[in-house]
Amino acid sequence: MKIAIGADHAGFELKEKVKKFLIDSGHEVLDLGTNSTESVNYAEYAEKVARAVSEGKTERGILICGTGIGMSIAANKIKGIRAALVHSIYTAKMASRHNNANIITFGGRIESPEEARAFIMAWLETPYEGERHDKRLNKIKELEENC
Ligand code: RB5
Repeated sequence: MKIAIGADHAGFELKEKVKKFLIDSGHEVLDLGTNSTESVNYAEYAEKVARAVSEGKTERGILICGTGIGMSIAANKIKGIRAALVHSIYTAKMASRHNNANIITFGGRIESPEEARAFIMAWLETPYEGERHDKRLNKIKELEENC
């Protein structure tokens, strides 16, 4: 799968580990930065990754800041994005199963590389359930269109 990744300074080190893990697992990675621990604005990287997903350049995206909170807030401003802040294997699975999240976010100051890897695998391997969730996601789409 083609996956865009992005981080701010607080997520940079974890992003590098996530990138290696994704490549080693056979995924194609579009790394949209940041590329150091120098302080940056997380919203810029959220926008880059969210636009890559929204425009179909990649199928999914992963965003890492200190907590994952700012990245999720910013990414969800881009049309077509369903970004989910995950903090457990359960929330990572549910982000896909019920919310069809096309981006997940988490915290470089919270998650270990092993946890991040487990969340990503859970999210990628869990299918979207559809059915009753379609009308809920359609309602969200409607909110976005009328915004
Ligand atoms: C940066 O200090 C921090 O605010 C940022 O990485 C993120 O956690 C925001 O939500």
